[in-house]
Amino acid sequence: MEINVDIGNIGRYLKENQDRFLDFWEEQIIVHYEKDNKELIRRNGSLMYQIMTKSILEEFSEYEVKLLAHKVAQERADANVNIGEFVYNVNLGRSLIIKYINLSGLSAEELQPIIEIINKQFDLFCYYAVTKYTEIINERLRERNLFISQTHKDRLSILGQMSSSFVHEFRNPLTSIMGFIKLLNHDYPNLPYLDVISKELEQLKFRITQFLHTSKMNTLAESTNEDITIHFLIEEVLDFLYPSIVDGNIQVTSNIDENIKIYGDRIELKQVILNLLINAIDAVCEEENPRKITIHSMIEENKIHICISNNGPTIHPETLKIIFEPFFTTKKLGTGIGLFVCKNIVEKNNGEISCVSNDHLTTFQISFPIKTN
Ligand SMILES: Nc1ncnc2c1ncn2[C@@H]1O[C@H](COP(=O)(O)OP(=O)(O)O)[C@@H](O)[C@H]1O
Ligand SMILES: [Mg+2]
Repeated sequence: MEINVDIGNIGRYLKENQDRFLDFWEEQIIVHYEKDNKELIRRNGSLMYQIMTKSILEEFSEYEVKLLAHKVAQERADANVNIGEFVYNVNLGRSLIIKYINLSGLSAEELQPIIEIINKQFDLFCYYAVTKYTEIINERLRERNLFISQTHKDRLSILGQMSSSFVHEFRNPLTSIMGFIKLLNHDYPNLPYLDVISKELEQLKFRITQFLHTSKMNTLAESTNEDITIHFLIEEVLDFLYPSIVDGNIQVTSNIDENIKIYGDRIELKQVILNLLINAIDAVCEEENPRKITIHSMIEENKIHICISNNGPTIHPETLKIIFEPFFTTKKLGTGIGLFVCKNIVEKNNGEISCVSNDHLTTFQISFPIKTN
């Protein structure tokens, strides 16, 4: 591009004004983060100014702009700051420089090619910096996800192995103890406490089976689907949890349409309701005010939505995004697999699960197609 003005003059003008320009620019840029030190930004600004001056006076250098843009992108990514701020500051620089050049005393005709060079340099600078920045961030995300999924897989497989030995260590002796209790009961029908012992053992066995079920989720291929009346399934789980409900002084209200059936795996779905209710109980027990859990259903077209709500602590929006991830827990003795398993089971049974949480209520909603005859 030919510039027919006195290059010497414009060159002097730009060079003389560099510091004033940078001071002025620096006053107006946005710098949000402490880490993001102004000195570094000024140095980059000064490099850009020099490249641009050189492009106007000597020759247009795309390569230098690209190098500087890549350096800045890397710095921005390392400082973990938003690229929007950078783009703003660069464009601020562009409009200030154009304003300065306009004050240089050149005619509009003389200014035009210079402004074109400035615009082109700034466009290229933004383009290279943002592209590089996006590349760096994407690559980091990819590595992080890979790491997370690998760690999850490792932990799930360890859990699976542990649970296999768990079965042999606990379930077999338990079954034989239950057998002996039956014999005792037969031989000494009046012996006290046998019914209590039996009931406790039943519960223990149920818990162990559940745990087993949980950890083997991914390998559990066969399923036994049947028609399930949701109302009764929930009643059953509530009966099972009765001791914890009384113990925590929790008011539970359940209102589920008695006629609605869904089609799915009964044991699996019982586990979902159980996990959600245990979480609700844990949540309300964290606070002292009247503890309430409500369960109700809504019918929409051919779907049933089952909502389990509690008035415990709010789940923060950022936390809400990850509660279904395996091993996420905020509890001292939590495993963080409850909700992960719930999601797996619900989806395997053609349903959906979601959660909303505000200051008053936390609600887990599960939805399934209704089984019609
Ligand atoms: N009803 C609820 N109210 C508040 N937080 C909940 C509720 N249900 C689950 N959470 C949060 O989700 C996390 C994960 O739950 P879960 O997968 O069941 O694992 P765990 O119960 O072992 O912590 C809990 O630690 C808790 O922080
Ligand atoms: Mg749980």
